[in-house]
Amino acid sequence: MTAAVVEGLGTALPPRRVTNDDLAQVLDTSDEWIRTRTGIVARRMVDDGVVTGDLAVEAGERALKSAGGQGADAVIVATTTPDQPLPNTAAGVAERLGLAPAAALDLNTACAGFPYALATGAGLLTAGAASRVLVIGAETLTRFLDPGDRSTAVLFGDGAGALVLRLGDADDPGAVGPFDLGSDGSAAEILTLSAGGSRLPPHRDDLADDDKYLKMDGREVYRHAVRRMAESLEALAQRAGLDVADLDGVYAHQANSRIIEAVADRLGLPRERCPVTIAEHANTSAASIPLALAAAPPRPGDRVALVAFGGGLAWGSALVRWPEVTPG
Ligand code: UT7
Repeated sequence: MTAAVVEGLGTALPPRRVTNDDLAQVLDTSDEWIRTRTGIVARRMVDDGVVTGDLAVEAGERALKSAGGQGADAVIVATTTPDQPLPNTAAGVAERLGLAPAAALDLNTACAGFPYALATGAGLLTAGAASRVLVIGAETLTRFLDPGDRSTAVLFGDGAGALVLRLGDADDPGAVGPFDLGSDGSAAEILTLSAGGSRLPPHRDDLADDDKYLKMDGREVYRHAVRRMAESLEALAQRAGLDVADLDGVYAHQANSRIIEAVADRLGLPRERCPVTIAEHANTSAASIPLALAAAPPRPGDRVALVAFGGGLAWGSALVRWPEVTPG
């Protein structure tokens, strides 16, 4: 049976590192609070003038190099923070990587972007619409945070990560699938960034701060995240004919170390099978899973589940038989 197969991995992080102590100088917070509540120690932040597409190009270039430099004829950029509403970010990324006229699309399922983008990339391959797909998660969420809101300003960081997929066989090392994807629009209000779309166009001069910045009911998001990621992993394992206990690794979206530990505990998985790499990256939304794969690489042959949850609400998971791959 044909399947998408992973053949390259690349990441990009902006050089500017901002520690919890740095934030505690300008906000009513502390390194102790942030570390114990989230596992975050520092985050990377883009400087003025750097956009999501810049990070996507850097991660994409490295992933293509890691895959052997054969290019790609489709580019997916999973992002909540595109360079602008129009044109999309992916077409510019494809152009700058020398991949034009590749198919190029943005995909927004917030922090759940990476599993959704992998499933979409696999779909392009199996539909015969592409022969090699560059799947990128890239974000500059720090641009959209209210610097005076300690409930969000300490949580997020900027970054990008990418995988290259080619069409192969379901038995090949690197084979991706099955997938589990879902959404729940009824709880949309617990994680929002309201301005800039058709409801509140950016030219309006009556936008409130709550519209312009990311707003989150952290406790509610936490509750949904644990439940939905655990359920998605169970559904994924069932679809693959496995027990959750058969998973060698679970690479969860890195939003909070406690969320990842709670998912592991709920599923009865040893915590050491669920890497936590949030300390130096914070929450990088759609980029967090490929960044985690590069920071704590699975062993070749491991059966790993990638799982994420975010605004929408949206969640998703994907199974990967991890291949021999050297990050570019
Ligand atoms: O990527 C998907 C989207 N994001 C997430 O998945 C994040 C999900 N949520 C979380 O990770 C956690 O809910 C948070 C880290 C956001 C918050 O942790 P918590 O343990 O749920 O804290 P809390 O919201 O219940 O707040 C506890 C206290 C509050 O004070 P009171 O009301 O108890 O007096 C907050 O005002 O901590 C206070 N607080 C802070 N204190 C110091 C909130 N933010 C901060 C802060 N520094 N940065």
